[in-house]
Amino acid sequence: MVRVVIGSDHAGFRLKDTIKALLDTMGIPWEDVGTATAASVDYPDFAEAAARAVLDGRADRGILVCGTGIGMSIAANKIPGIRAALAWNEATARLGRAHNDANILALGGRTTAPAEVERVLRAFLFTGYEGGRHDARLAKVAHLERKDT
Ligand code: RB5
Repeated sequence: MVRVVIGSDHAGFRLKDTIKALLDTMGIPWEDVGTATAASVDYPDFAEAAARAVLDGRADRGILVCGTGIGMSIAANKIPGIRAALAWNEATARLGRAHNDANILALGGRTTAPAEVERVLRAFLFTGYEGGRHDARLAKVAHLERKDT
């Protein structure tokens, strides 16, 4: 059973609540690392909290929501070992898993079409990594992390 950590800023917490309700209907356990209100906060704080939960093994996958998903994906991808995919529909969520072995999904609370959310979520949670030709590419991505630190 996949365990999910989920975080957002003030622009994403409503979509985060929708996602938590969907996870409940799927029977998937989640941990919410905040934020919980519309009071303005800084998205990198929540990106880091969720990323650490994934890297520590407290969660298998992370979901991050800000206004566009862009800030969350940029911040999470600064942390070695995180592969955050900014997805805006089912296809990009599926390919983020199949080709990029994404361990975090970034979504935009202000940009994700409500009708797409469940399909995006299911694609991220239930698509396996394809491996094969993608392994060498991911190894190069990991090498970039080591080169720059
Ligand atoms: C907050 O207004 C907004 O800038 C933030 O949620 C996010 O979209 C940044 O990438």
